[in-house]
Amino acid sequence: MNLFRTKSIEQMRSMAENSGMKKSLGAVDLILLGIGCVIGTGIFVLTGVAAAKYAGPAVILSFIISGLACAFAGLAYAEFASIVPSSGSAYTYTYASLGEFLAFLVGWNLILEYTVTASAVASGWSGYMVGLLKSVGIELSPAFTLVPSDGGIINLPAIFITLFLSFLLVRGTQESTKINRILVFVKLIAVFIFLILAGPNVDTANWEPFMPFGFSGVTGGAAIVFFAYIGFDAVATSAEECKDPARDLPVGIIGSLVICTVLYVVVAAVLTGVVPYTELNNPEPVAFALRYIGYNIGSAVVGVGAIAGITTVLLVLLYGQARIFFAMSRDGMVPANICKIHSRYKTPYIVTIAGAVFVSLIAGFAPIGLIAEMANIGTLNAFLIAAIGVMVLRLTKPDLHRTFRCPVVWLIAPLAILSCGYLMYNLPFDTWVRFFVWCGIGCIVYFTYSYQHSTINIKQSSKNPAPQIDDINTSL
Ligand code: ALA
Repeated sequence: MNLFRTKSIEQMRSMAENSGMKKSLGAVDLILLGIGCVIGTGIFVLTGVAAAKYAGPAVILSFIISGLACAFAGLAYAEFASIVPSSGSAYTYTYASLGEFLAFLVGWNLILEYTVTASAVASGWSGYMVGLLKSVGIELSPAFTLVPSDGGIINLPAIFITLFLSFLLVRGTQESTKINRILVFVKLIAVFIFLILAGPNVDTANWEPFMPFGFSGVTGGAAIVFFAYIGFDAVATSAEECKDPARDLPVGIIGSLVICTVLYVVVAAVLTGVVPYTELNNPEPVAFALRYIGYNIGSAVVGVGAIAGITTVLLVLLYGQARIFFAMSRDGMVPANICKIHSRYKTPYIVTIAGAVFVSLIAGFAPIGLIAEMANIGTLNAFLIAAIGVMVLRLTKPDLHRTFRCPVVWLIAPLAILSCGYLMYNLPFDTWVRFFVWCGIGCIVYFTYSYQHSTINIKQSSKNPAPQIDDINTSL
């Protein structure tokens, strides 16, 4: 058995070169892309949850710690992305550097990330939609808008939005750069309206005590609010479409991270300054805070902006989930027929519908905090392995052309590993148990199905293998 067989980088490169992607993105486009994929449920919902349950007003520090971990991981990730500029993200990069088994586990965890992140985002959407309807006099029964652990039966709005967006994806609707730009501005406007209305009402007494749960609460909070940064890796994966990746990628990654961190810190400070942190564990804390200080119309406007912003994030996630499955099925890791393309719409409809069903079930019945923790552990794990992969490739393939080189890689990549590992360590024990169960199921799938059906395996064991040395690269 060879668990470390790798895919040929040269082959992936030539596929990417022939993909015909336009090299049109500049630094500003990348920053907007990052903000478009990042700002959603994290800022609009989890800031409140993390303040109430973990960090208190010191959630501000939690955001800074998490943002730093993302910056290190983002730089390492970007080098990886620039070596293998094909879609498929950390799964593809790991396949090229650390071998098939770890790549499978990364892909398996990315599926977890996308599925549960989409579920948490759908829950956030539901919280704001229910609040908005309430502000115009339509009150939905909590039994059908809350999950069982929050006192309801099922979260129907979260299921509705998931199924609706999945339907659009099956029909072939894709976000255009233009729509993304408009929605980025809508959500930024929502954030600024909140800051302008609530800012003057900050009562510094609410910041006392600043760290009610101690420093462990701050780090526990950092592990939760990491969710708010998920999606920035989309910037790192766009190397293929950049005009000048060496210059624009670091600006795009660090720029969008800095802007998001500043916004998160300011929103967290204002939120915990106008409402006592103990009252922030609710489904729409930002809109709630405005109502709390008497701005009902402002609250509704911010609610609409939040809904628009969260919708784009959800669309990107549901789309990304199908893409990861697709990349894995192309390599024989999961059965190809689940990625069958619809004859009329030309979209991978089976996997999109199956994904939508899973996302709906999770969003319909599980609490948002728990879902976000699962999303974080899967993503942090993928970043951690990608940072190891970057160093492995520097050693094993030092001469490989890299469009973007991570600065001081021997410092940044270990810092990425340490900081992602530290955030994982700070996630609750139950999350680790669920994570190991998920990885255990993944191992069963790999050893009973994927190992045999892997395209590399099939090529290797074929009686008349094509004599292409670059096609199969089994050395690390
Ligand atoms: N970062 C994304 C959000 O906060 C997943 O919604």
